[in-house]
Amino acid sequence: MSSIESVALEQQAAQISSSSQSEPSVTPLIHRPRRLRRTETLRRMVRETSLRVEDLIYPLFVMEGEGQREEIPSMPGCYRYTLDLLLDEVKEVYPLGIGAIALFPLIPYDQKDNAGSESYNSNGLVPCAVRAIKQAVPDILVITDVALDPYSSEGHDGIVQDGKILNDETVAVLVKQALVQAEAGADVVAPSDMMDGRVGAIRKALDAEGWINVGILAYSAKYASAYYGPFRDALNSAPKFGDKKTYQMDAANAREAIKEVDLDIAEGADIVMVKPALAYLDIICQIKQHTNLPVAAYNVSGEYAMIKAAAEQGWIDEKKVVLETLMSMKRAGADLILTYFAKDVALMLQ
Ligand code: PBG
Repeated sequence: MSSIESVALEQQAAQISSSSQSEPSVTPLIHRPRRLRRTETLRRMVRETSLRVEDLIYPLFVMEGEGQREEIPSMPGCYRYTLDLLLDEVKEVYPLGIGAIALFPLIPYDQKDNAGSESYNSNGLVPCAVRAIKQAVPDILVITDVALDPYSSEGHDGIVQDGKILNDETVAVLVKQALVQAEAGADVVAPSDMMDGRVGAIRKALDAEGWINVGILAYSAKYASAYYGPFRDALNSAPKFGDKKTYQMDAANAREAIKEVDLDIAEGADIVMVKPALAYLDIICQIKQHTNLPVAAYNVSGEYAMIKAAAEQGWIDEKKVVLETLMSMKRAGADLILTYFAKDVALMLQ
């Protein structure tokens, strides 16, 4: 520091101390951001983001049988429903304003194989459920999951050979699965498998069969995440060996998410998704700035379980934490949120 600078600093310091002595009362402040936080009415007027029931997609688990619902131990308050009780749940939530459900099946182990053949049985659990739901509540949007893991004896999203997950052979099965779902009446198919090229292959096949209005919600930036644990409990679908890191994304990567989104858009995706949501809000934000397509976020099972567990202990206020968490996803840029809290939130927002 030059001597001139140090003299100037000393003078400044002297001024500050003398002014604080002579003027002990109010410093004039030009900007007082608290003015806009003074009342709830004001806060509502300047609120930048909103959470609406229309933004929510309700994931539901369906199982074989009749008259039963089983609570998922690691997801308290979430159930696997037999079709009759699933229909009751759908009839209950649609009038609350929930416009869309995402269906996931619990497949009995004896129907599973390495190629996931049950996934394209047109009389399987999912196609039957879709037909029944569309008949009971025609206006609710039915989104079906396109992936092999609930049907795979290996618990992987693709066909396994010598410990590796085959890509193109898996895509051929996914195409058959998507066609069966479209034929059953699915409004949107949602490939969650992360095989390369599956969105394009599914779009091409749907169009060729005349299903031009069936949409694709692409799980574009889906990370290999430990937050999926409770979901795999729900469907009994944990991988039998290894992990999903050769097809799902590395948690450390952001630019790669943009690459995956670009590919899915080029291949015909209508909506792109980031999954999980909470630990990936930066990815949601970047993707929102990158594309004009609607962006969805999946508030996954582990995120649900953490809130439920802490709330059960009395350590957090569940309702407030849920609303704050979902709002953070909207603020990051999500247009749509898949969340197991959808029904709770619909009731809170009534
Ligand atoms: C698999 C799939 C998973 C989820 C949705 N689809 C799990 C996985 O990739 O292993 C997880 C959803 C959740 O955790 O709530 N295709």
